[in-house]
Amino acid sequence: MAAPGLQGNGVKPVANVVADALAGPLSVQAASGTKDLNNLDWLGLADPPTCSPDPDLLTSRAWVEIDGAQLRQNLRLLQARLSPGTEIWAVVKANAYGHGAKLVAPLAIAAGAKGLCVATLAEGIELRQQGLKAPILVLGALNTWAELRQAMAARLEVSLTCAEQIPLMCQVARLAGRPCPIHVNVDTGMTRLGIPWTEAALLWGQICRIPELQACSLFSHLATADEPDSAAMEQQRTRFAQIVEQIQRAGDPLPSLHLDNSAGALSHLQGHYARVRLGLALYGLPPAPHLQVPGLQPILRLKARLTHIQTVPAQTGVSYGHRYVTHRPSRIATLAIGYADGIPRRLSGRLQGWAGGGLIPQVGTITMDQCMWDVTDRPDIQVGDVVELLGSHLDSALSRFQVQDWADQLGTIPYELLCGLSARLPRLLVNSPE
Ligand SMILES: Cc1ncc(COP(=O)(O)O)c(C=O)c1O
Repeated sequence: MAAPGLQGNGVKPVANVVADALAGPLSVQAASGTKDLNNLDWLGLADPPTCSPDPDLLTSRAWVEIDGAQLRQNLRLLQARLSPGTEIWAVVKANAYGHGAKLVAPLAIAAGAKGLCVATLAEGIELRQQGLKAPILVLGALNTWAELRQAMAARLEVSLTCAEQIPLMCQVARLAGRPCPIHVNVDTGMTRLGIPWTEAALLWGQICRIPELQACSLFSHLATADEPDSAAMEQQRTRFAQIVEQIQRAGDPLPSLHLDNSAGALSHLQGHYARVRLGLALYGLPPAPHLQVPGLQPILRLKARLTHIQTVPAQTGVSYGHRYVTHRPSRIATLAIGYADGIPRRLSGRLQGWAGGGLIPQVGTITMDQCMWDVTDRPDIQVGDVVELLGSHLDSALSRFQVQDWADQLGTIPYELLCGLSARLPRLLVNSPE
């Protein structure tokens, strides 16, 4: 469907179009009516604009759609795979893996997730500012007084990632007049953050006796859960279980425990402890090819609009570097999405799009804000049409519309590409769960 206001492309000779325009007054059609270009008062430069974007314009360029009903379905499918009573905590760090944390976090809670995990203080504060009341755990290390004070003020729960943080946490708690809620991160083999597993049980016992600390849980993170039959993962599980045994033997209160990410949760049929921290699977992607869940579907669709179409002769260079040269008279369409939106430039010339019920190939170098497509064989395609770049509801045989396919082409993982979907893409809820 063509965008309202601009039909087809270049059907009228350029000279005629200009003549038509000059016949009328010098004006521009703005959303609020016709404006005189010689008087710039209407721009309101003296008063900072208070307007927010017109919701209809959110789909004028490029955007992400989030399928709310599918998110709920994914959560239910995953919950059914977990040990009875195990809670799902939704990992919504990095803007919910590019899906839009503001949108996804409340949806996940409404669908049954019991808490949220973020990586940074700022991510947690943003969700609180939005009014979310659910528990929010900051997974990253907070090593300074200022960070911990802010975390307490925003009622965030923090990770204890090394014993040296304890005095600072106690001071902050005293100032706040309430205990600091902590989750003890134990390094059982990831070698990233956390107290050494050999010291975990002893430290837990000590922490339980510190009134300034509210010991919420003890957790660890798996390094190789996405590998089939991983001995390293089994070693991490064994170490974690040993810590639990040691705590029990010491007679200390047994913490709430969590170890599994998506791959860990799906590779083990039981023994999921009190919680699992799920990211990728919740978004509908299997964390490894051998860890498929029937019915699990990606909740993200990436779409953009064609803003220009031109007919060019054979031997015309297209885009930066002229790395693509037309081999026949061609109709070249420009799509308003580029690498600044998160489409990797290294996919130049390798992308396929879905437009008007068929495939179209991307040609030439992907630029910062736009990329070009060969629509020579598709006269039906017009300026304003939507091209879909990622989406699971398309013909399931078309694996090229899965982020996994992009990742395979680039030798990376879906996580990296999803997180790369930039902030300037509006995130829109489609298929609301009610
Ligand atoms: C500590 C921690 N827990 C859980 C997750 C969720 O992992 P996944 O998206 O594979 O479920 C992550 C993600 O990187 C993480 O860092």
